Amino acid sequence: MSLTAIPRAKGAVLGLGHIPRLLLRGPLAVLRSLHAEGPVVRLSIGTMPIVVVTSPDTVNAVTVTYGKASQKGRLFKQMRPVVGNGLASSDGPQHIRNRRLIQPMFYKERLAGYAEIMRKRAEKLAGSWSAGQQIDVDKVMGAHAIETLAATLFSADIGRPAVESVREDLPIILQSMLLRALAPQFTVNWPIWKRFNRSAARMRLVIDDVIAKTRASDLDSGTDLLSLLLSARDESGAGLTDEEVRDELTTMLFAGTETVASTLSWALHHLAEHPDVERELLEEIDAVIGDRAVNFADVPKLPSITRVLDEVIRLHGVVTLMRTTTEPVTIGGYELPADTELLFSLYALHRNPELYPDPDRFDPDRWLPEQVAQRPRVHVVPFGAGNRKCIGDKFAWLEATITLATLLPRWELRPVPGSKPPTEATAAMAHPTRMPMIVQPRRKH
Ligand code: HEM
Repeated sequence: MSLTAIPRAKGAVLGLGHIPRLLLRGPLAVLRSLHAEGPVVRLSIGTMPIVVVTSPDTVNAVTVTYGKASQKGRLFKQMRPVVGNGLASSDGPQHIRNRRLIQPMFYKERLAGYAEIMRKRAEKLAGSWSAGQQIDVDKVMGAHAIETLAATLFSADIGRPAVESVREDLPIILQSMLLRALAPQFTVNWPIWKRFNRSAARMRLVIDDVIAKTRASDLDSGTDLLSLLLSARDESGAGLTDEEVRDELTTMLFAGTETVASTLSWALHHLAEHPDVERELLEEIDAVIGDRAVNFADVPKLPSITRVLDEVIRLHGVVTLMRTTTEPVTIGGYELPADTELLFSLYALHRNPELYPDPDRFDPDRWLPEQVAQRPRVHVVPFGAGNRKCIGDKFAWLEATITLATLLPRWELRPVPGSKPPTEATAAMAHPTRMPMIVQPRRKH
């Protein structure tokens, strides 16, 4: 069957396809509107056809049923020169092997160790503010997420220069990564990419240096992710090469910072807009933790925070993911040949009004156990599903919970009066535009 059997989305223009619709309405609005045109629809970017799956069942077919019949697709291929061949962009046997090697680093006992680092970073952040200070929440959370992840990746003493460099260079790379991935190869040395190229090269050098120094040190003693990566062995006893380790570290930094920063920023925004929800969180934190520092064992006892995070990620999730089929598949009744470009948006799925009534409303009660029990599992996939599901999901919620449980009892954050409410900028996540807020100490502290 050819792709022309699939209904074509409205608004295509001869030769340009849906580019004008995407430019005029914006990708978020277009992606959100497509479910009304069917569970499988065809978009054209210029003359390139892309099949978009829009329903929970068709997204599940792509990610789970046919998870092994596809590769990560065009978007990730284009990003390879930047992120290398780490977990998020590798395919086939390399992906399976490295995923197995890396998975134990996210086991419970490891997470307990990272929780301690997360708490220290959150306390440092809370201690850095003064009464009445104005902060750009988006930037502060960006730096916090980078520093926290870097601190769990590298051992404290060897990794310090890497943390500094990553804090400076990663935001520059993240800012233009999507554009760079789409830019034609012959432009890569153009002056517009000077800052980007310099930051990418510096980050590579610094990470290579940390890898070399960590290898030279006593690996067995390290509990940081890098030491674990360096000592991981597959069944044949083989470990990862330095290049593979660098790619995996870089991938973690890309996959695990903007996502967490965006979630934390939006959480603080919604809590400021919903003081009743904030109060519920404060009461829970007070009852479970009181005046002591938050620890790993506290996290499952803070379900109100989890509900807020679940609602935030429903509203502001990953915008675009892609796959390319490697063999013929049947999705939503349509037969798709090998080499079909597939696209799905978790952001759009989680704002579908048929699945979530009044979808733009922030309502953490949607995640009360009795409501969750009624919702099919395939409706809720903020971290993806199947063989490419996020490896850092528990890490992310742990970090976000510890950060909120540390900051909220000490500081009240409210938007700067008269400031424009943040809107959603489209990158990997629907992360917020500038979010200026004033911090005030809470009475108890
Ligand atoms: C709110 C936070 C996060 C969200 C919403 C998120 C979301 C996702 C999603 C949707 C995928 C699947 C992509 C696909 O199907 O193509 C993914 C993959 C991935 N994520 Fe996350 N992520 C988050 C945090 C993290 C963190 C903290 C880390 C690392 C410490 C991480 C590391 C990864 C990696 C390595 C992959 C690729 C997995 C593979 O293909 O085997 N993520 N993430």
